[in-house]
Amino acid sequence: MVKVAIIGVGGLGGALADGLVARGVETSLCDRHAEKLARFVGRAETHLEPGPAVAGADVVVLAVKPKVTAATCRQVAARAPVGALVVSCAAGVPVAALPYDGPTARAMPNIGAARGVSTTAVLLGPKAERERDLVRLAEAFTPVGSVREVPDEAWLHVVTGVAASGPAFLLLAVEAMVDAGVEAGLPRQDALAYAAGALRAGAARLEDGVEPAELRAEVTSPAGTTAAGLAALEARGVRAAYQEAVRSAVARARELAHG
Ligand SMILES: NC(=O)c1ccc[n+]([C@@H]2O[C@H](COP(=O)([O-])OP(=O)(O)OC[C@H]3O[C@@H](n4cnc5c(N)ncnc54)[C@H](OP(=O)(O)O)[C@@H]3O)[C@@H](O)[C@H]2O)c1
Repeated sequence: MVKVAIIGVGGLGGALADGLVARGVETSLCDRHAEKLARFVGRAETHLEPGPAVAGADVVVLAVKPKVTAATCRQVAARAPVGALVVSCAAGVPVAALPYDGPTARAMPNIGAARGVSTTAVLLGPKAERERDLVRLAEAFTPVGSVREVPDEAWLHVVTGVAASGPAFLLLAVEAMVDAGVEAGLPRQDALAYAAGALRAGAARLEDGVEPAELRAEVTSPAGTTAAGLAALEARGVRAAYQEAVRSAVARARELAHG
């Protein structure tokens, strides 16, 4: 079993830490803000500095903002055990830009990691040893969901737009549905429970490997309520808006990569 150090337990690193700690993976966490570490005290090692946090780690995950990823990697590189795999989760930061002499990789998880449902894309860096390091990546990321290897960095920009930013796009839809439910008379907590249930129902059926359009057709009776709602969404260009959201996120990931 690998020991995983996570540097930065904000939105993403915190979700990853929640998922790993809950599943009994040996975890060492670092954040310069003690309050972000508080919920893990007694359940994982916690540190305010990266140096001590990476002692004995097999995999070091950098979950800090893209602009401080190289500097944080430098801090880690000075103290990481020889041969430790350094994995950056930063959107747009090329794997070759990580200042570390040992094996590197990139991973693009999402906030589903907290509940074990992240679909994490991974890419090995130039000094990684394929067989050994894919196993280490799997040991660090399958406890929090599934892992898919991508063939090159260009794919990761697209995965960032679909999978990493994706939950926020879908949550905006849930937010709007909750507001409309409240406007129509439901108490907020009930509207939230029903809208979240709708999202879970769609997600669970997608797990069967069926196309979304096919699933929609199943629940859309002629002249029924769902048909009326879908017509309203199409009339307001929601499909195009979602396509544009993903395109914009992908474009931003490419911009980050090219400074
Ligand atoms: N959020 C997502 O769903 C998602 C998905 C995939 C990938 N990502 C990537 O994950 C990375 C983290 O994003 P985030 O939204 O989770 O960031 P965040 O909320 O800012 O969390 C990063 C945390 O690390 C701390 N930190 C930064 N440098 C440190 C250092 N050298 N030593 C100790 N602590 C340090 C930060 O403190 P300060 O605030 O003081 O700097 C902050 O508390 C980004 O690169 C992003 O591209 C995010």
